[in-house]
Amino acid sequence: MTDSTTGTYSVISRANHWIVSLAFFGMLAVGFYLEYGGLTREARGPIMALHKATGTVLLIVVAWRVIWRLNQGFPASAAGSMPGWQILASKAVHLALLAAIVVMPLSGVIGSLSGGRPIDIYGLFMIPPFEKNEAIQSAAGFAHTVTAYVLTGLIAVHVAAAIKHHLIDKDATLVRMLTGRLATTEA
Ligand code: HEM
Ligand code: HEM
Repeated sequence: MTDSTTGTYSVISRANHWIVSLAFFGMLAVGFYLEYGGLTREARGPIMALHKATGTVLLIVVAWRVIWRLNQGFPASAAGSMPGWQILASKAVHLALLAAIVVMPLSGVIGSLSGGRPIDIYGLFMIPPFEKNEAIQSAAGFAHTVTAYVLTGLIAVHVAAAIKHHLIDKDATLVRMLTGRLATTEA
């Protein structure tokens, strides 16, 4: 049984969705704070270390989440009838979100290591850097920044759509991702 055959999100899929969502809200907030928070060098150090360690762990979590989704497929829409463009837009945004949550940690890890900087995993162990390569470092840094903005935009559209389905269309889209149920009220 997969999500596409049951027509809903299993408990594993829902846990994947909400845990990774929460983690990405936190990572984006901390990332933008590091970039625009006007931090001193000393204040920036430990927050950057936390950003890097948590992001690197998330690379594994996200790999699992994306492989799980590819295995499960997507359940058919819970919205009943929708205009063709909305079906297409929802598929495109979901695929783009899945791609962006891989690119974010991957570009971070590659950018750090190719910049000759190790990654300290919460003081438990160190991932040693590659030989410094400025071309790779700046390409990865560019990807990290651009994808951070693209992902923020995608999340805004995605959350707005979820709220619209729940409050305006009054369909089961949001409830299905929260509880797995296919209807807004108990049968
Ligand atoms: C897992 C998801 C991650 C998210 C959502 C995220 C998000 C962000 C954001 C929003 C910024 C500020 C925008 C910018 O790039 O200038 C940033 C900066 C940064 N992130 Fe991440 N990040 C993630 C993972 C990582 C990882 C795994 C590393 C390294 C191991 C990392 C290293 C950095 C560095 C070094 C900067 C500063 C870039 C600069 O000053 O040019 N990030 N991140
Ligand atoms: C408050 C925030 C959020 C809400 C209310 C929300 C709501 C939803 C809902 C209702 C669905 C099911 C859509 C459908 O059945 O067609 C969904 C799917 C999805 N959401 Fe979110 N979401 C949120 C945050 C996020 C974030 C931050 C990400 C990515 C970082 C994300 C990525 C995805 C993806 C990739 C799917 C497709 C199914 C899956 O693989 O889980 N969502 N979301």
